[in-house]
Amino acid sequence: MKFKQFLNEDVIDGLKLGKADMAYIKSIDPEDLGGFGWAKRKDYKYEVYTVLDSNDTKIGAIGITIIGNFPFLQIVVDPKFRNQNMFLRFVNLMMKDLSIKTLFSKVFKVNVPSVKAHMKSGFKEVYNDPQKDFIYYSFERS
Ligand SMILES: CC(C)(COP(=O)(O)OP(=O)(O)OC[C@H]1O[C@@H](n2cnc3c(N)ncnc32)[C@H](O)[C@@H]1OP(=O)(O)O)[C@@H](O)C(=O)NCCC(=O)NCCS
Repeated sequence: MKFKQFLNEDVIDGLKLGKADMAYIKSIDPEDLGGFGWAKRKDYKYEVYTVLDSNDTKIGAIGITIIGNFPFLQIVVDPKFRNQNMFLRFVNLMMKDLSIKTLFSKVFKVNVPSVKAHMKSGFKEVYNDPQKDFIYYSFERS
């Protein structure tokens, strides 16, 4: 499993994302449950990568958005590869490659697969107000 950074050619103005890669992300994350919705915000700093398997098949995308100097996770696994523990493999790959020690994540409570993936992967809740519809997690690289 490896990264391929999005190509800077054929870019969407201001976003530095290749149109083909954005189209790929939209095709696997059509409901915008939080996966890559941030990419519409041109004022955010981010790094984003497709994830490829050993045959160079795209199996998802992962990235970080920098908010107040903290890296926040953005992740989407291709539906064909979900429920196979790819979540933690993507996260470990990115944290190692980008030398990220602490990663943060905001998850909407209705996004049950994401909540489950965070919990079983060892993410710690750092903010969970019953009145709010989201949870903040943090994760330390081992
Ligand atoms: C969230 C996401 C990244 C998880 O990736 P993944 O590789 O499938 O995650 P995992 O395989 O590690 O875990 C998924 C868990 O959700 C569970 N799950 C999946 N669909 C579910 C559903 N409809 N209801 C309840 N649980 C569900 C799986 O059973 C698994 O839990 P288990 O191992 O305890 O059985 C993936 O679902 C995705 O890309 N979603 C769309 C984009 C998105 O929401 N990104 C996250 C934004 S915060």
